[in-house]
This record gives sequence, structure tokens and C-alpha cells, in this order.
Amino acid sequence: MRPPAVFFLLGALLPASQILAFKSNDFKTCAQSGFCRRGRALSARALAADLSWRSPYSIDPSSVLLAPDQASFTASVKSALYPEVNFGLDLRLHEDGVVRVRMDEIGGLRKRYDEAANWALVAPPRISRDISWKVGKNAVRAVYGEKKNIEVIVEFEPVRVVLLRDGVEQIVLNDGGLLHMEHFRTKDDAEPVAIPEGEAQTTLQLNNRAWFEGEEQDAWWEESWSTWTDSKPKGPESLSLDVTFPNHLHVYGIPQHATNLSLPTTTGPDAGYTDPYRLYNSDVFEYLPSSPVSLYGSVPLMHAHNAKSTVAIFNAVGSDTWIDIGRTETGTKTHWISESGILDVFLLPGPTPADIIAQYTRLTGTAPLPAHWALGYHQCRWNYVSSDDVRSVQKRLDNEDMPVDAFWLDIEYSEGHKYFIWDKKNFPDPVEMIKDVEALERRMVVIVDPHFKRDSSYPVYKAASELDALVKPKSGSGEYEGWCWPGSSSWVDFFNPASWDMWVSFFKTKSVDGQWSWIESTENVGIWNDMNEPSVFNGPEISMPRDNVHYGGWEHRDVHNINGMLFANQTYNALMQRSDPPKRPFVLTRSFYAGSQRFGAMWTGDNVGTWEHMAIGIKMVLANGLGGFGFGGSDVGGFFGNPDPEMVVRWYAVGAFSPFFRAHAHIDAKRREPYLLDEPYKSILRDMLRLRYAMLPVWYTAFKEMSTTGIPILRPQYVVFPEDAEGFAIDDQFYVGSSGLLVKPVTTRGATSASVYLSDPQIYYDYFTSHAYPAPAKKVTHGRTVTVPAALHEIPLLIQGGSIVPTRERPRRSSALMRHDPFTLRVALSTEGSATGGVYLDDGEGYGYTNGEFVWREFGAETKKGGWGKGGELKIWSKDRATQGGSNDVAVYNPANVFAKSVSGVRVERMIVLGVGSRPALVSVNGGSTVEWEWQEGIGSGATTEGKAGVLVIRDPAVGITSDWQITVVF
Ligand code: NOJ
Repeated sequence: MRPPAVFFLLGALLPASQILAFKSNDFKTCAQSGFCRRGRALSARALAADLSWRSPYSIDPSSVLLAPDQASFTASVKSALYPEVNFGLDLRLHEDGVVRVRMDEIGGLRKRYDEAANWALVAPPRISRDISWKVGKNAVRAVYGEKKNIEVIVEFEPVRVVLLRDGVEQIVLNDGGLLHMEHFRTKDDAEPVAIPEGEAQTTLQLNNRAWFEGEEQDAWWEESWSTWTDSKPKGPESLSLDVTFPNHLHVYGIPQHATNLSLPTTTGPDAGYTDPYRLYNSDVFEYLPSSPVSLYGSVPLMHAHNAKSTVAIFNAVGSDTWIDIGRTETGTKTHWISESGILDVFLLPGPTPADIIAQYTRLTGTAPLPAHWALGYHQCRWNYVSSDDVRSVQKRLDNEDMPVDAFWLDIEYSEGHKYFIWDKKNFPDPVEMIKDVEALERRMVVIVDPHFKRDSSYPVYKAASELDALVKPKSGSGEYEGWCWPGSSSWVDFFNPASWDMWVSFFKTKSVDGQWSWIESTENVGIWNDMNEPSVFNGPEISMPRDNVHYGGWEHRDVHNINGMLFANQTYNALMQRSDPPKRPFVLTRSFYAGSQRFGAMWTGDNVGTWEHMAIGIKMVLANGLGGFGFGGSDVGGFFGNPDPEMVVRWYAVGAFSPFFRAHAHIDAKRREPYLLDEPYKSILRDMLRLRYAMLPVWYTAFKEMSTTGIPILRPQYVVFPEDAEGFAIDDQFYVGSSGLLVKPVTTRGATSASVYLSDPQIYYDYFTSHAYPAPAKKVTHGRTVTVPAALHEIPLLIQGGSIVPTRERPRRSSALMRHDPFTLRVALSTEGSATGGVYLDDGEGYGYTNGEFVWREFGAETKKGGWGKGGELKIWSKDRATQGGSNDVAVYNPANVFAKSVSGVRVERMIVLGVGSRPALVSVNGGSTVEWEWQEGIGSGATTEGKAGVLVIRDPAVGITSDWQITVVF
């Protein structure tokens, strides 16, 4: 967002179309950023020199030292350019095959920032001891892995690190010789010496630095841009590293960018973009729907994929980072240029997308299981203007039978934008208002931003100021002052541990030891952390000056991308401590970093009400999922603008299939709560909201899986079918968890049908009509495209044959009211006549599940004795999920736990079996009583021509969701 003064002034003068535009002048291009310019110039020199280019960095063979733990080695590295400077390299192998490579300057003039990984990582990873090392004259080799098929080679001269699997190169560091750690120096250091024109570089000239570093000291000690000057007291300290994937043509990840999932290139003749991708958390006004420009969050993780292998690199750096991507005939070359920090890179060996996600979330943690209500529908706008406004929106949704779980308050609830302090004129009774919402076990979510109004009568600012826990200006003392919503503001420095207890005490609902606490709230309120990039209206690139000083003396430039995560992290921690026993906190953050998934949900920021933004939001949520942060969504309806009813309807379908489903609108946008639409739009929205609620068991189960293995909730085509090259660039359709649901939201105007790509030779069924798209008759190795109906009231939603999908189909006003509702099971038979599925349930709010208080069922179906022929049988069963798997295993699991008992009366009220090719003779339960059923004629799951599937509806089989049972269908 931009400062309102500017916005409103412009608003008075300009037509809307001109106001709504990305302000490219607010952000630097690579050419306007000193260190990026230097990094790109380095790669241009390497390209020009071609084969004669040689990295000046080498390892001194005599320094190689294997650690006694056998899991790592250290070595000293020298740059031929600066023989007097020492660098240290260490390489460490983790038990799951991940390789960590670190390099730092040793004994330099200053210390480089080396704490990014400490914030990102959950715990020191387990190291591998099962390694065969070979220290040779020219290289160190380590062979390891269960099959002894992974090899890391560190070559000495020049330094080159190669990860191989089955003898094939997967990842190479410094293959292009672009590794460069600008060491600390004094201003008097000699200028680089120029090479005389026309003279080629020779080994003897390695001490001549200009061939490598360039001839000028470009922006070494100060940098001016627009109206700002960055004082750069530490001088040049950037880090350049090339990472090559010699055999991978697709790379994904490095969220957050508004771009395709398979990342377009930024170098070479067919480059998709001219600037590198940038990771520098920024509040970008009206961001473009296709651009490498950095947005609100940064996860420096990149997957590289081919049909046989997925690998990844995680570059634990917290400073401004630019990434070029170029393609070779067989692979991808990337170049990472960071402003500061040590080299701390993790090589993830895969070999599958699921392995990469597991390896990455083992490092940075999986998302916790959220509160169940957080998966419902969230109603937000900037702003609901009074407590009565909130009550009236709740009433109108209720009157229209539209389910909702959360009402949100944006910044105008607060007096003068002093967060926590209610504007009593409009919110005279905040606690009563919150309780009115909580009466139906709904929740309120209230915004708290990280900038505090500099007003000594504001207790929150006063406490932080007295603690000396605010970010400091470049002088290193006092309080940095910038401009944000409240006017003159200061920012809490969450790197300062002293701020943590303060933050905990703010969120208490009763004052402790006379400290200021938010007593005018309840233990259930969720928190929205916005503007935490941080956004500073009058700062460079709408953020803080890079020479601001944080706790420990680190400059803002060192920690910029981590800053926003710490805010949400501490809010999460504070909410957790509001009650005893704790309840699962809900925190929404705009800014994020690697590891942010551990602290809540994210959204894609200030999108625009256009079709392009609707479409790009899907890709952004998919990319975030690959970065471990799957709990995400975009503002439904678009933040800016006034979408017409068709667009609103399509956007609700996108929202209903997003992990985080929130409608939000800008303060200037017209009201657009779903009940305000005319018919038929209003009824379509009601149906979509109800569909979301009916599918909550699917969503919750997918969240459970994500919390145990890291696997994202929305799974792109290449993650589900890693071997199908035709799916590698598909990013407009996705699977929901492992439910077998495949959705392709419509993001274009006037559509009546949609084409959906199917990778596998498997039957798919339309979720709504039971129309079947059978597997191809002949065995084929490639996928197929089917056309599915997609009129405005229709969502292209298919069920993959072989899946069992649990739903709860009684319309309710909030998710909590569904706690004891019966289930429907949709059994979508595969071409072979079988299916599997599951459901995870718990109390949705506390942590009893960590002690085994949950229900995790596995469902199965199998056709026996010749299928639909006379005497054939179909069996459908439910059993306890035998293994709990994943990272948060419980030690002892008792199927008769307290939670399971509380839902033991919940039954399956209906089964809808898709692909039943003939009329059954009898349906019985547990080998005994028969039940009512109905068969709608249609094709069987093994059919080869498209048509309506035969559907068997089993009515109220009277089986419990927590019990073991078996249904037998006899033909
Ligand atoms: C910017 C956020 O992105 C937006 O969602 C919010 O409404 C405004 N800040 C006002 O708080």
C-alpha cells in the first residue's frame, strides 16, 4: 500500500485506470542496485571470456580436515585475487542426504551476517555417519545414501561442488566460476587494476583483479537512488554464486513472484523477463500479474525437475537477493546475487518432489495443524466500520444461510491507528461484539501492524520505547522514525529478545504485574500481521533504510527478508500463551521467509480485481506450497477495484479451493459481501460456500498430511505425476491433498467449458454430474485432455478413479456446528474397480491430538469375484490407519481415545459409489443386515467410452465414522 495522502490526492486528480498501476519507480531494477549490477557484470564478463574464464577461488589441499564425527570436513579457501584474505569452507552431510555447504570470511575486518539459517531452521539436522570419504590431491569425495548412490565431490582448483546421483550430475556450485564473496576492506584498499585493452587473461594475471571484479568500485561505499542515500558503512560485501542443474529443464519455487510455476528465464535470447527474480520483501502497490519483481515474502528455495529426478537448493540468506535463470540445451543455470551474508547453501538430493518437500520441511519445519475454524470462510474488508456493522454482516450472512467462520477487522478499528486501542466512537463494546461473533463458535481476526505511533501516551509504543526494543537509525542509537498508517511511527525490533516477553504480555487478556495488556479482547481472537516487510511509506523502496540498525548491531540490509517472519512468529508465540491449556493460534502474515510456515497463514497481498490477478493468485499459492508454506490464498474478489458479478462468482470458486479462503476489499471498493449480489449470482455463491464447508473433512485431512510430511495442500501436476513431462508447465489446475480431487478454476470471462489435462491412464468422474472420462482403451504413455462443463454455476472438479472422498453435506452456519454431523463417502472406483481414501478428525482447537486424541481412518473398496457380473462382489471398508507416519508421530495411539469417544455416535449417512456398471442384487453391512440402496444406470469404472457413470447410492448404512466396518455389494 501507499500512503493514503498520496493515494487520495492522486485519486482526486486522475481517473481510476491511471491510479491503478504498478509504480515501477518505487522499486529498483537490477541496474539500479549496486551489488546486483556488480553481480550481473561479473556474469557478463564470464560469458564474454567463455572458455578462458576461470574462478579465482581454490581450496588449499593441505587444509582439508575431516571432522571426527565423519559427517563433515573443513578447508581453507583462497581467492587468487586477494591472497591475504582467508575464507573457510565447511561441508556437512545430513542423514537424509542433504548437503550443507558454508563459506565465510575468516579473521576479516568485520563479521558477515551468519544467522539466517538459525531463524529458518527448526533444529540441528541429524548428521550422517555412514559415508565413505576419499580425500585426494585434487578433490574430496563422499559417497553415501541408503543405496550408496549419492556422491558429493568438492574439487579444489577452482572450487567446484558437485552433487551426483547414480553417477549423474544433479547440482553444481561454481560451475560457471561466478562464486565471489566480496571480503571486508577499508576504503584505502587499492583500486582494482585494469587489464590493458585487447590483452587476454592469463593465469599469471590472476592477481590482476579487474578481469574478475571490474574496473570500478561501483557503489562500494555509498549508493544513491531516487531521493535516498545508503551509507554502506561496511563497504562491499555481496555474495555471488552460480548454481547449475545440468540435467533439469524446469525450475520452480523462490516464492514470492507473480509468475508461472515453472519459472520463465531471465537471461539468454528467449528470456521471459529482462531483470532477475528478486527476493526483497516489499509492499508493492498494484503489482503486475507477470513479473520477476519481488513481493511481500521470500523463500530462497528452488526445485529443479526432470522426469527422473527432482533436486533443490535452499540458500539460507536473509538479504536482498537477485536470481538469474538461464537455459542450456539440457539444463538450467542460475546465478544468485545477495547483498550480504555468508554462503550457507543446502543441496537437497530428492529424488522425487515429495522427497524434496520432506527434506526441506525437515530443515525448516512443517506447518502446524491449524485450528479447524481457520479453514472455513473468512469475511473481511477494509473496513467494517463499527461493532454494529460487524453484527449486521453476521446477521445478513445468517439470514441468507451462507456459512462463515471469521469476521475481520482492518486498521480502522483502532483509535488513530494505535493497534490494540479500540476506537470507542465506533466500537464502544469490543468484547461484547467479539462474544456475539463467538456465540456460534465463530472467530474474530483483528489486525496488528508492526509500526507503533510515536505517541508517549500510547502504552504499546511507550513500553517498547522504554525497553529500548525499537529499530534504530543508522547512528545505532535512538529510535528510527518513519511514516506509516499512524503518521510518525517506530518499529519493534523482533530480533531483540527483550521484545518477545513484551509481546506476550500485550496479548494477555488480563493484565499481569501491571503491564499493559489487551484486556479488551478474548483468548480466541486471531491476529492479522500486515505491513511487516516492513512497509515504510517514506522509506527507500517503501521500506526501511538498509543502514538502520537491529539488535546485535546488524544492519537492516542483513536481515531484511527475515524481519517480517519474526513479527508473525512472536505473535504466534504470544497467542499460544494466552490460555492454559493453549489453543491453536491463528496468525495471518503478509511478509514471510523460509520457516514462516511454522507460524500460520499467508495471503498474496494487494491484488487487483482482474482476471489476470485471479489466475496468477493460483500459481502463487502453488509456488508457496512448494516452499513449505501451503496455508495461503488471495483476496477473493481482488483487493482493488469493483469486480462485476461474474468475476466475483469465479473468484469465490478459486477461494473455495484455496487453503485460505478470505474475501477482502480495499477501503474505496464498493461493498461486495456475498448476500449483496443479485440472483442467480447470490445463490451460486451460497452453493460455493456450502461446497467449501461440505469438503472441510478433505481440507482438514490435507492439512494434517501437510503438517506431518510437508506435502502441500494444493499439489501441482508435476508433484503428483513427476514422470509426465507434459504436466511440468501446468499451473492452472491442481489436486487437493491426496483426496483425488482435481480442480481447474475458471479464470476467464464467458467460459462455458474448460479443458482439463489428465496424466494418468485412469478414469475420472465429474464431481457434480458423475459423468465419466474413462482411461484410454489402449495402453498409452502420454496424458489426455478432456473437456468439462464450466458454465458460471459449474466448477471444473473431477474425482480421480481410485479415490474415496469424505464430505459433510448438511448446510450449517459455521464449521463448529458440523462437529457431530454425519458423513457422505464418495467412492470413485478405479478402472480396476478399487479405491482408497481417508479422513482425519480431532477437536480442531487444542493440542490433544499430540497425545493421540484424534481419529484417522482409512477407507478402501475392492471388486471381487468378477466385478459386476452375476455373483460378483464389491466390498467397501473402514479401518484405523495403521501407521501414523510423519514428523509429529504420537508415541501411543489408542483408537478409543477421548476425542474418538466424543464422536463415536457420528455415522456415515450415505455412500455414493461411482462407476458401478450393473444393478446390484443386495447390499449388506458387516455380513449381516441389508440396507437401502438405489442404482442409477450408467457405465462401469472399466468402461472405455465416455458417458454417465453407473452410480450406486447406499442410504444410511448406519456405520460409525470411528468404527471398523465392511459393506458388501453383491451383484
Ligand atoms: C495493506 C494490506 O495488504 C491490505 O490487505 C489492508 O487492507 C491494508 N494494508 C490496510 O490495513
